[in-house]
Amino acid sequence: MYLNTMIIKYNAKEGQIMKLNTIKLINFRNYPKVELNFNNHLNIIYGNNGEGKTNLVEAIYVLSITKSFRSNDDKMLIKDGELSTKIEGEIENDTKNNYQVIISKDGKKVKINNNIISKLSDYITKINVILLLPDEQTIFTSSPQSRRKLINIEISKLEKEYIVYLNNYNKILKQRNFYLRDLYINGNASKDYLDILTQKLVEWGFKIFNLREKFINSINEIISKKYQSICHDGEIFINYRSDYKNKSKEEIIKIYDKNYKRELAMGKTLYGIHHDDIIFLLDNKDISEWGSNGQKKNAIFAFKLAEIDLIMKEKNTLPLLILDDLFSALDNEKVKNIINLLNDNIQTFITTTELDRLDEKLLATSSIYKVERNEIREEK
Ligand SMILES: Nc1ncnc2c1ncn2[C@@H]1O[C@H](COP(=O)(O)OP(=O)(O)OP(=O)(O)O)[C@@H](O)[C@H]1O
Ligand SMILES: [Mg+2]
Repeated sequence: MYLNTMIIKYNAKEGQIMKLNTIKLINFRNYPKVELNFNNHLNIIYGNNGEGKTNLVEAIYVLSITKSFRSNDDKMLIKDGELSTKIEGEIENDTKNNYQVIISKDGKKVKINNNIISKLSDYITKINVILLLPDEQTIFTSSPQSRRKLINIEISKLEKEYIVYLNNYNKILKQRNFYLRDLYINGNASKDYLDILTQKLVEWGFKIFNLREKFINSINEIISKKYQSICHDGEIFINYRSDYKNKSKEEIIKIYDKNYKRELAMGKTLYGIHHDDIIFLLDNKDISEWGSNGQKKNAIFAFKLAEIDLIMKEKNTLPLLILDDLFSALDNEKVKNIINLLNDNIQTFITTTELDRLDEKLLATSSIYKVERNEIREEK
């Protein structure tokens, strides 16, 4: 019964379809050099454990977001013993454009058509990628920080200014925490400066709060339908928890005033959007405490499907889709149904160790890449 109503065709027109035509890697993870052409529809990357399948899809992800999904340290992406790495790809939607991410020990550079883009926020809204990792449902039981990271990444794809707001907020937060400690040590220092920092913090915080709330409301409008197309019944609702919820700026500032002594004693900012969290409810119960592993997987998959819709609606393009280690997450039947759902319009990258578990008809229409000994060979 699984997924059989999930065959929702995305009727995208020519210019709305995003394709990664080629990728070129130099000294990326275990690869000295890779050059590949990709199929417009389905690309299957197979090979044994540890050969570098996830590394290849990670490169596609870095080309889009400029950051990895499995390491906060960009330098980890540089091949052992080398000084820099370059990821280069040709993206086609209305026109063909060349994108590059270059990481060296000194930092990161991004280029579009060979022009350096100085603001990352001008770069990362261009290529939209939706990624599903095999154990992504662990997000429900991990830290609020990892859930904030998930929504931060997704909103920054949709709203160009979001990263700027986040950077400004974090800068003020750091200053405010520093000044709180200063005030504590130097008791007669002025509180006026703290009040200025509080004002600024709340200004930026509200901008972030509004975009987060808007994003979660939009996802909530569609996520249950997506979930039901996977497992027939069940309502999913994402509960956005924030100190700013249902409050005006003035009310928030009053909270800071009231808790001034406590913040002083703790030496840090105790309220604000840096404590936000999202809770996934399945039929009104917290999925992290009630949900089975399968329900959690379906919920995260529904979230990703909802994001595809949102990108289509807000940006008028269909994103690229990466399904890493597909069979470790789902059984054969579900995989078949998912692939039916994906349809020809979404360019998809699937990694697997078990090529023989994929349908022959499907293999016939896909490009297949074998990953072995730090090389990738296009087999067909
Ligand atoms: N910076 C680096 N330089 C060189 N090699 C690296 C670097 N980072 C990771 N590797 C190597 O990449 C390999 C892991 O690749 P990857 O995670 O893509 O494998 P995989 O094919 O996805 O495996 P699995 O099927 O287990 O998921 C490891 O052998 C690791 O040593
Ligand atoms: Mg892998």
